Amino acid sequence: MNVRPDATAPIGVFDSGVGGLSVLRALQAQLPNEQFVYYADTAFCPYGGRDIAAIRARAETVSAELIAAGVKLIVVACNTATIAAIAHLRARFDLPFVGMEPGVKPAAVASRSRHIGVLATVSSLAGERFQALVDAHARGVTVHTRACSGWVEWVESGDLTSVACDTMLRGDVQPLLDAHCDVLVLGCTHFPFLVPALREVVGPDVELLDTGPAVARQVERVLMAADARNDSTVRGGVTWRCSGSAETFRQQRWMLGFGEGQPGLQAR
Ligand code: DGL
Repeated sequence: MNVRPDATAPIGVFDSGVGGLSVLRALQAQLPNEQFVYYADTAFCPYGGRDIAAIRARAETVSAELIAAGVKLIVVACNTATIAAIAHLRARFDLPFVGMEPGVKPAAVASRSRHIGVLATVSSLAGERFQALVDAHARGVTVHTRACSGWVEWVESGDLTSVACDTMLRGDVQPLLDAHCDVLVLGCTHFPFLVPALREVVGPDVELLDTGPAVARQVERVLMAADARNDSTVRGGVTWRCSGSAETFRQQRWMLGFGEGQPGLQAR
């Protein structure tokens, strides 16, 4: 695999929908002068619950489109797609892929109670890859999992503060608190947008672990090793793509603070 030699080429980022924006936020903080192409596969969202072959097919189609747009590296900003498809993507395309996986390892290191909780989609938790992650990194720590059906749809709708949303979060998180988990892994890139609501549920002492910043650092390492980091002194922008309604996606971005003219992100 070779990073394209053109360091000014954009970085491709994709997710089933708006969840990958939490990763894009971390990437922009780490690599402010890079250009990005963000692809939201909104016509096929959510991925969680679909079978592996279907997720793999979508990941391949979206990656091919990003490559055709000239990206130098692709961030699979979706735990579900990473678990289902990253090995396949690496075998299929001659380009570096950086993926997400639930942060079991840092959570196990951080936990004092030796009980950690993993919040993720059904598909992420069902795969052999997740079990391998637990076997490799959670020795001496009990891992409690929770397949959070409905959370992705809630974030896609932009309703992050209603009583109904709070009730759903409490229903899924309370069993993990009852099991003495002191670190909860946000094992889906949609979930960082629920952190303010989750903080109300878990209180101040439980850590909510988002792996977006660690992935952004990994992207920087990969680019530097290939001498492909964009050293422009001008802040980069984002080109938006989606498989569903462009207008709906524009409104979703706005609700999550990624609209044109909103702070922190320069859209073009
Ligand atoms: N954001 C995706 C993830 O990290 C969620 C997926 C979905 O169910 O579409 O797993």
